[in-house]
Amino acid sequence: MHNYLITGGAGFIGSYLAERLLHEGHKITVVDDLSTGRWSNIAHLESDPDFRAVVASADDVKLMGDEIPRHSFIFHLASAVGVQLVVDRPVETVQRIVRTTDVIVELAARFRRPVLLTSTSEVYGKSEAIPFSEDADTVMGPTSKRRWAYACAKALDEFLMLAHYRQTSLPVYIARLFNTVGPRQSGSYGMVLPRFIDAALKGEAISVFGSGEQSRCFCSVHDIIDGLVALSRCPAAVGNVVNLGSDEEITVWQLAQRVVRLTGSHSPIVRVPYEKAYGPGFDDMMRRIPDLRRARDLIGWNPAYRLDDIIRQIIADRTR
Ligand SMILES: NC(=O)c1ccc[n+]([C@@H]2O[C@H](COP(=O)([O-])OP(=O)(O)OC[C@H]3O[C@@H](n4cnc5c(N)ncnc54)[C@H](O)[C@@H]3O)[C@@H](O)[C@H]2O)c1
Repeated sequence: MHNYLITGGAGFIGSYLAERLLHEGHKITVVDDLSTGRWSNIAHLESDPDFRAVVASADDVKLMGDEIPRHSFIFHLASAVGVQLVVDRPVETVQRIVRTTDVIVELAARFRRPVLLTSTSEVYGKSEAIPFSEDADTVMGPTSKRRWAYACAKALDEFLMLAHYRQTSLPVYIARLFNTVGPRQSGSYGMVLPRFIDAALKGEAISVFGSGEQSRCFCSVHDIIDGLVALSRCPAAVGNVVNLGSDEEITVWQLAQRVVRLTGSHSPIVRVPYEKAYGPGFDDMMRRIPDLRRARDLIGWNPAYRLDDIIRQIIADRTR
């Protein structure tokens, strides 16, 4: 039995991770400041004697200095997340991501606790080397365009983790997550699928930012949790970056059409220029597909859920 610490455990992915590990019989502590997470994501776990939640920031050195040595493994998910948030609150985005990871990894190194970071496919930036493999070059946009702050901050997180691994052999794991979706995900911070589904269910117009020809791959949160748990138990994954995501590609315009069909909605689909959605100087990437060979080789991982099934699950959850 493990004592797991999950930073960001009241968030979308973190709450499913807490649920899974509790179900396996482990003890869980969540540290979350509820900045983008919600208490309702974990409220159902509160009565479990093996579950504990601390509402605080994971960059609190004193608190984390007490918590980290009491746990055998740290899942570090706490992060500013979502394009809308990154564009609206650029200072908090950079500070929150880098500062928190610095505190966590330094204390993990001091107390010799293994730590898994959830990084992001955004670190590939504008690369066109499809599919994205973990050791390929990243192509970052200019610092004058705010959206790249998230990618750069998460890339810096990866550098920090790998630096500790190289300098002191701290066991670190880095999962580069591609778009992850499922029930409980909020559309408030720019996540495309919940935003589309919420609009369709209300019969409101579905706003596709840009031309809609940009494509993405959407992976079920349940598959991602399988991958994160398997990685954390795979000694060969230590010191490696591993992509986790779906390789089922769909354009954003087709996604909107799919949502309309599966919700049975009459919502119109409209194009909204990036400048109108995010202000001037927004930059996007056209395609984002993961190379999954490393995940397959290390942990035998393949996403099991198809996009239509995931969309149906989200609709069912929201219309319960
Ligand atoms: N959802 C995706 O598609 C996706 C894709 C790539 C990477 N990721 C990564 O996965 C992780 C989880 O993302 P999510 O989609 O569940 O988002 P989320 O916003 O639901 O979860 C992040 C959680 O971290 C908490 N948090 C933020 N800063 C904190 C701090 N300093 N101290 C304590 N708690 C803090 C938030 O309140 C929230 O509960 C993040 O690291 C994110 O970068 C997510």
